Amino acid sequence: MPIPFNFSHIKIVMIISVILINLVAASPSQPKWPQYFISSITDTILDENQNQKFTNGTYYFNFLARSSRIDLEDGQYDPLCKLNGFEDLIYNPCRIYATGGNTFIFYPVDSYCCWCCNASQGCGNIYPNALLRELEFLGENEIDGKSGYFWKRDDYAYFETIGDNPENRDTIIIIEESKNITFESMNRTLPDQKTFDLPWECKVSHSCPEESLCGRIRKKGIDNLKDISPIY
Ligand SMILES: *[C@@H]1O[C@H](CO)[C@@H](O)[C@H](O)[C@H]1NC(C)=O
Ligand SMILES: *[C@@H]1O[C@H](CO)[C@@H](O)[C@H](O)[C@H]1NC(C)=O
Ligand SMILES: *[C@@H]1O[C@H](CO)[C@@H](O)[C@H](O)[C@H]1NC(C)=O
Ligand SMILES: *[C@@H]1O[C@H](CO)[C@@H](O)[C@H](O)[C@H]1NC(C)=O
Repeated sequence: MPIPFNFSHIKIVMIISVILINLVAASPSQPKWPQYFISSITDTILDENQNQKFTNGTYYFNFLARSSRIDLEDGQYDPLCKLNGFEDLIYNPCRIYATGGNTFIFYPVDSYCCWCCNASQGCGNIYPNALLRELEFLGENEIDGKSGYFWKRDDYAYFETIGDNPENRDTIIIIEESKNITFESMNRTLPDQKTFDLPWECKVSHSCPEESLCGRIRKKGIDNLKDISPIY
C-alpha cells in the first residue's frame, strides 16, 4: 500500500510549507502615523554628561492642517528649546509649533518666541512618512512592561502596540540617539484648530540665535543634522 503512505507524506510536507509561509507572512504591515491625535508624552533626553533627564508634555498633531505642537513642561534639556536667547535655560516650559511651513519656539513664562526654521530648510511641515519610512521589523518585544511591534532604521527605533491594522496601532515610544519620546496615551481626536494659532510674539522676522540648533538647521537643513528628530 505505497500510495496512501506517499500521500500522507506529501500532506505533511504541505502542512509544513503552510506553517513556514505563515511565519514569513507574519511580518506586519509598515506602521502608519495617525492623521491626527493628542497624546501626553514623556521626553527622555541625555544631557551633556549623559545623564537621563525627563520632562512631561503634550503632543498635538494634525496632518490635515500640516500642524503640530509639542508643549514641554520643562524645555531646558530639549535640543530645540535650549539656548534660544537664554544663556543657560533653567526650568522653563517650552512649546514647539510647526505650522504654516514654519517652526517656532515659544516660552510662555517669558512671553518670548523665536522663529526656528521653515519648509525650505526641512522643517515646518510635518510629514508622518518621513518619520516612519523604511523601517525594518524586528519582531515583538517588550518595553517598560508593554508588548509591541519593534521597528528600526539606522539609529532610530519605533515601538508600537500590536494589531493587524496599522491605523489602529498606537505609538508607544520613539527611540533616538539622544532622545526618547514615550507616548502615554495616544488619543485619535482632532485637536482644536486654535491649538495651532501662533502666539502674537511669534514672528518670522525674529529668528532664534545662529548658535542654537535652530540656527544650525537654517544653515545646514534638517536632513544634514543627525541630532534632530524628523518630527519637528
Ligand atoms: C511626569 O508625570 C508623571 C505622572 O503624572 C509623574 O509621576 C512624573 O513625576 C512626572 N515627571 C516629571 C519630570 O515631571
Ligand atoms: C525660509 O527662510 C529663508 C531664510 O532663511 C528664506 O530665504 C526662504 O524664502 C524661506 N522659505 C519659505 C518657504 O518661506
Ligand atoms: C531610550 O530607550 C532605550 C530603550 O528603553 C534605552 O536603552 C535608552 O537608554 C533610552 N535613551 C534615553 C535618552 O533615555
Ligand atoms: C479622547 O479625547 C476625546 C475628546 O477630547 C475624549 O472625549 C475621550 O474621552 C478621550 N479618550 C481617551 C481614551 O482619553
